[in-house]
Amino acid sequence: MPERRIILPGAKMPTAWYNIMADMPNKPAPYLHPGTQEPLTPDALTPIFPMSLIEQEVTQQRWVDMPGEVIDALLQYRTTPLIRALRLEQALGTPARIYYKFEGQSPTGSHKSNTAIAQAYYNKQAGMKRLATETGAGQWGTALCHACTTFGMDCTVYMVKVSFHQKPYRKTLMRLWGGEVFASPSEQTQAGRDVLAKDPDSLGSLGIAISEAVEDAATHADTNYALGSVLNHVLMHQTIIGLECLEQFDMVGDYPDVVFGCCGGGSNFGGLVFPFLGRKLRGEATKQTRFVGVEPAACPTLTRGEYRFDYGDVAKMTPLVMMYTLGHNFMPAGIHAGGLRYHGMSALVSQFVHEGDIEAIAYPQNPVFQAADLFAKTEGIVPAPESAHAIKGAMDEALRAKATGAETAILIGLSGHGFLDLGAYESYLDGKLVDFALPEDELCAALGELPEITL
Ligand SMILES: Cc1ncc(COP(=O)(O)O)c(C=O)c1O
Repeated sequence: MPERRIILPGAKMPTAWYNIMADMPNKPAPYLHPGTQEPLTPDALTPIFPMSLIEQEVTQQRWVDMPGEVIDALLQYRTTPLIRALRLEQALGTPARIYYKFEGQSPTGSHKSNTAIAQAYYNKQAGMKRLATETGAGQWGTALCHACTTFGMDCTVYMVKVSFHQKPYRKTLMRLWGGEVFASPSEQTQAGRDVLAKDPDSLGSLGIAISEAVEDAATHADTNYALGSVLNHVLMHQTIIGLECLEQFDMVGDYPDVVFGCCGGGSNFGGLVFPFLGRKLRGEATKQTRFVGVEPAACPTLTRGEYRFDYGDVAKMTPLVMMYTLGHNFMPAGIHAGGLRYHGMSALVSQFVHEGDIEAIAYPQNPVFQAADLFAKTEGIVPAPESAHAIKGAMDEALRAKATGAETAILIGLSGHGFLDLGAYESYLDGKLVDFALPEDELCAALGELPEITL
């Protein structure tokens, strides 16, 4: 019988993050200042980020050591298990070997704690008293509140309004960990008030919530901003997922042929994939592993967006990033995978997709929930709706393997559990989930508002 739960002892948890920029043949384009559209200088970011994280954003060093206090906080829940999905394999009748790396056992239920802990630590070191942030599904906000409590700081969260109402218990968790939570767009900031003036019933979006949190941080000296995805340093903090996985595959003498992860802003996907991709780029990999990012058809950034400079938020306060984007004004449908409703994507993940090292696919939400349903029945874990996108991609791959008889080794990034997404599962079970396919004219309208940048 193959090993089912592959557990790396805490003493073997990686103690340095991997920075894929060291191994990229073409270095990423610089971020541009939102006002001047000139390459951004580090001091332009100091009103909202500590210098330690700004340095991590641009460093070309391959390994960045984790501070002792961060290691200690991570060890509260790491390492996370790599699990062989034997019952799922049996149910599908596939010769494929399916593994999943489960990040849902963190205190807050997802991978987001991996970077929240690091970011809270560095901000505390820089003398900050409070962090402001946005949250979509509520996972990131929860993770940051927990991390701020760990390091004795306050936390203010602007939560996208549709999720604020869909997921009231997320709000409770954030408050339990000492956070203050506002439904975004809110009356707290000028950015929020501007949106409400135009559309009092706005459901909100991550782009709007980011504007609110950035404004809050920029207008308070004791407050910084923290972003739960997209940025290079966030993806680097998440590489602990893939680094553990490499060790865990060594323990059982296997290696993935194909890796599936869901993509919102790209952080759990990048964190899982980059250590494997880095090996491939350095010519050290034993297999030509494929990497597949999975996104919702309602917010198809990688599969239908354009690769060009865009703002990260609605109010154009963030730097311009070279990335796949649906346009900073894009308003995604209110699908249940709230964490995947973002118009942009990590610059690093975007560049790898553009250069052909990473593939991308998109699914509507009903087939994704069907996949989650089978996963829950066979593996006994209720996945977060975001993570279920990766499961759906992997199941389709396993069924292709069944058709061809290929003994493919498949790795799934299971970024979180869905215990606070039961409202979504209820809708699915009642047959009330609606599949949104983004109409072409809506996409064209959003893309039409992209800035024209010539470097
Ligand atoms: C469980 C889970 N997975 C995935 C995501 C998507 O974010 P990212 O692409 O940065 O991993 C989120 C975002 O909230 C999430 O909560």
